[in-house]
Amino acid sequence: MNKFLLLLLICTVGSTISKKGMTFMKYTHDARFGIDNLSCYAPSDFKGVPVCDAYNGDTDCENLLPVLCVKVDDSPRPAYPVTGEGAAMPVWNYFGWGRGHVASTKPVKASQFQTREAVDAFCADAFGSGWKVQSWQDMSKWISGMGGVDGMKYSGSEWSANADKMQSGGWGFYAYGNLRNDTRLWMDGPHDQVSTCWAH
Ligand SMILES: *[C@@H]1O[C@H](CO)[C@@H](O)[C@H](O)[C@H]1NC(C)=O
Ligand SMILES: *[C@@H]1O[C@H](CO)[C@@H](O)[C@H](O)[C@H]1NC(C)=O
Repeated sequence: MNKFLLLLLICTVGSTISKKGMTFMKYTHDARFGIDNLSCYAPSDFKGVPVCDAYNGDTDCENLLPVLCVKVDDSPRPAYPVTGEGAAMPVWNYFGWGRGHVASTKPVKASQFQTREAVDAFCADAFGSGWKVQSWQDMSKWISGMGGVDGMKYSGSEWSANADKMQSGGWGFYAYGNLRNDTRLWMDGPHDQVSTCWAH
């Protein structure tokens, strides 16, 4: 094959394999506290990508989706219940507290952002100073034993008093907000993975 044809082939293949980014979804809302349960998983009646791909991305970066913007203000954990068995990690890891608020922007192509700073600026422009994108390591904070059926353990002031026991989780988290549930949302993928559309 001559060099020109080889180059043409490489360019064609390169442009058809487009990058994918990780997305998240609101799963349920708890009106008692005004909090959303955000997840890698979509509710069962959602017509779209049912589960995120944190390693390779799940949604073409050229798609139009709202950005999941957050504002962490160190709010103490409301007494939402955490029960169950967990999986590879203990159950609390998957239902950590986001220590603040979530909001979703108008739908945009993730490919329009080159860097995480550009997405942060987009969030701040939409919702105000301090709003930005975060990964689930930053949003899912948990303390072993928190919640239970009545949600009380490590909530409120007991949460804040035990900040030194907090660990970082993933795959899901809770935060103040009441997002739309008809679409997945662009999110910053895990720090050590390539599943983010922008440089992060
Ligand atoms: C929160 O979302 C998870 C999916 O990540 C789901 O399994 C769980 O039942 C939800 N919890 C509540 C209380 O809705
Ligand atoms: C969105 O939430 C409403 C209730 O607020 C619920 O009836 C509906 O099934 C949810 N949609 C999805 C896709 O989960």
